[in-house]
Amino acid sequence: MIQYDKEYSIFKIDTPHTSYAMGIADDKYLGHVYYGRKLTDMNLGYLMRAEDHPAAPSVLPREKTGFFDCFPMEYPFGGTGDQRESCINIKTEDGQQGLELAYVSHRIYAGKEPLTGLPATWGDNCETLEITLADEVTGIRALLSYTVFTDTDAIAKSVKIVNGGNRNVYLTKVFSSSLDVEREGLEVLTLPGSWARERRLQRRRLGYGSAAAESVRGMSGHQDHPFIALLSEGCTQTEGEVYAVHFVYSGSFLAKVMEDQFGRTRMVMGIHPDSFCWKLAPGAAFQAPEAVLVYSDAGLGKMTRNFHDLYRKHLIRGYWRDKERPVLINNWEATYFDFNTEKLLSIAREASGAGIEMLVMDDGWFGHRESDNSSLGDWYVNEEKLPGGLKYLADEVNKLGMKLGIWVEPEMISEDSELYRKHPDWALRIKGRKPGQCREQYVLDLSRPEVTEYIYGRLKAILESANIEYVKWDMNRPLADVGNAVLPPEQQGEIQHRYMLAVYGMQERLTHDFPGLLLENCASGGGRFDPGMLYYSPQIWCSDDTDAIERLAVQEGTQLLYPLSSIGAHVSDCPNHITGRTVPFETRGIAALSGTFGYELDITKIPEEERKQIPSQISSYKKYNHLVRNGAYYRIASYQENHLYDCYMVVSQDGAEALLTYVQVMAEANQRSRRIRLQGLLEDALYEIEGRTYQGATLMNAGLLLERMKGDYRAKLIYIRRYTSRY
Ligand code: GLA
Repeated sequence: MIQYDKEYSIFKIDTPHTSYAMGIADDKYLGHVYYGRKLTDMNLGYLMRAEDHPAAPSVLPREKTGFFDCFPMEYPFGGTGDQRESCINIKTEDGQQGLELAYVSHRIYAGKEPLTGLPATWGDNCETLEITLADEVTGIRALLSYTVFTDTDAIAKSVKIVNGGNRNVYLTKVFSSSLDVEREGLEVLTLPGSWARERRLQRRRLGYGSAAAESVRGMSGHQDHPFIALLSEGCTQTEGEVYAVHFVYSGSFLAKVMEDQFGRTRMVMGIHPDSFCWKLAPGAAFQAPEAVLVYSDAGLGKMTRNFHDLYRKHLIRGYWRDKERPVLINNWEATYFDFNTEKLLSIAREASGAGIEMLVMDDGWFGHRESDNSSLGDWYVNEEKLPGGLKYLADEVNKLGMKLGIWVEPEMISEDSELYRKHPDWALRIKGRKPGQCREQYVLDLSRPEVTEYIYGRLKAILESANIEYVKWDMNRPLADVGNAVLPPEQQGEIQHRYMLAVYGMQERLTHDFPGLLLENCASGGGRFDPGMLYYSPQIWCSDDTDAIERLAVQEGTQLLYPLSSIGAHVSDCPNHITGRTVPFETRGIAALSGTFGYELDITKIPEEERKQIPSQISSYKKYNHLVRNGAYYRIASYQENHLYDCYMVVSQDGAEALLTYVQVMAEANQRSRRIRLQGLLEDALYEIEGRTYQGATLMNAGLLLERMKGDYRAKLIYIRRYTSRY
């Protein structure tokens, strides 16, 4: 529910359990008042300290600058006195910066308007508040939107900037969210990583000054994640307060927190200003991407479940959203580039016998690509490897009762390609410089519509040429040398964002033209695992690191924000190709079962005793996947923290069943069993676990005993069912 109280000049936005409040101070300035547990009161304006403040500009104009530097501005503007991190700044045609945004009007309406060209949360059961602020001097207007859904404790924020003046203005910075939090002893949580080591949890004490997560790579990246959270001191999975913001965007971003001289903390999120400058002609508008906020008063676990709910119900779209996904086998780690139709079909034959439902042909089927040094851009089948082309392969795979999926990397171009020989200027490049290669490839300049049109046309033709039911859309290098010969000098700073809009545009067309297609995004593993991509594809490849033990950490960081149904996870061969570790096949299966599940190995070559386990792994997938997809997630223990074991569970929304995953990473001597306290069950219900019954409250407060297993890297799946007399 969203209310405006005229008497107190207060806006209050309520989700089922939280409130977010803003007020108008000094008849002009929109201040942030409160975000936290639900409030019923509207008398909140005093919290801005401006009500009867002697320094309010109308009372004491000579202290206006000082006022701006301590007022909790809801959408802080730069250059006119607030010396903290601002959300917006501009450059006028006179080359000058600075603006002052004041409240003009607002409207509250049912529903939510889409963000043109951008991914965003959606749904019918929601309400939106739109507040218009304006700068008198330039005519710039900022339209701040806040949407709340009746069934989710999250707030979706976005900002649209309109040039209401009569001269060009350059937006040099436009963030999507700011939140001022007044609380002592805050900690910061971010998700840094690297290739094959994505999204590790990092916590640190804030103190005076700032901390950030950021990317200028033109992709959200392996190294930083577009997420930042403030935690109350000592916050755990079940206790403490969390203020979190996540960005529904896949390009360069800045997420920053800063504690100021008064011990108040500002948390901002938006497009990274370093690589951004957008020309706004008179009357033109710029839509900044959406940021989603979650507040939890019961630790990180509750934050996680709120994000999962929001993304499951209001971000992911399409045919596959709520459906069990086909169990796939991908040939990347099985063959790399060394394959042909016959080899693929021999894998498919063995796989179909074991119950696998889809073959995914990875990189290497087009142009003359035999390694990663050529052919990107030449989206024509290599008939030498695949005689009869995709059609023949698809038909043969279909005859086995399986689906066919393929890999593509549409955003890139190899120097050794027909496309590059014809259009060298289609690669992003700075005037006068030869662009640098990464994985021996350049990035296509998708900010140019003719490039996007061409690539999308090829993609569509390929998908229409055969019965292809799944696409893995890869992106294997960051943007660099960002420039082109088409846009005028004053618009070169638009290229990165225009690139992102073009990627979104292509994926939107793809999902529209092929509504039944299962799309999985990927970027050298999990380099673009973000809410933006999730809007187009219900699943994203989590990491190139398929080692089940390493995966525990990568998946923990990913599960912190993303529903398990979206996390691409496969069983691969051992010794693992990246770490060299050997983990029992059963454990590899259990680790992959908490994601989309599939195989990435040569099934014709693995040991017989491993191959024999595949049918029972698939039957576990069929048995438990509804819980993995829809259940509420509880993190019980973290291997990243304790270095011994990992444990998490999913509980059906009605509390009637649950699945516990337990991985004993290190065997410990002289330990018979470990006591694990479960979460999320019904206190009074009786549950049956492996033939014994327990009360929910006992399992949650006193715990369950898990027997020690012999050896490292052992795992166990435990099914928990509400006990009724029928059983
Ligand atoms: C990336 C992906 C891998 C694989 C290769 C193919 O690294 O993450 O899964 O598809 O590209 O080149």
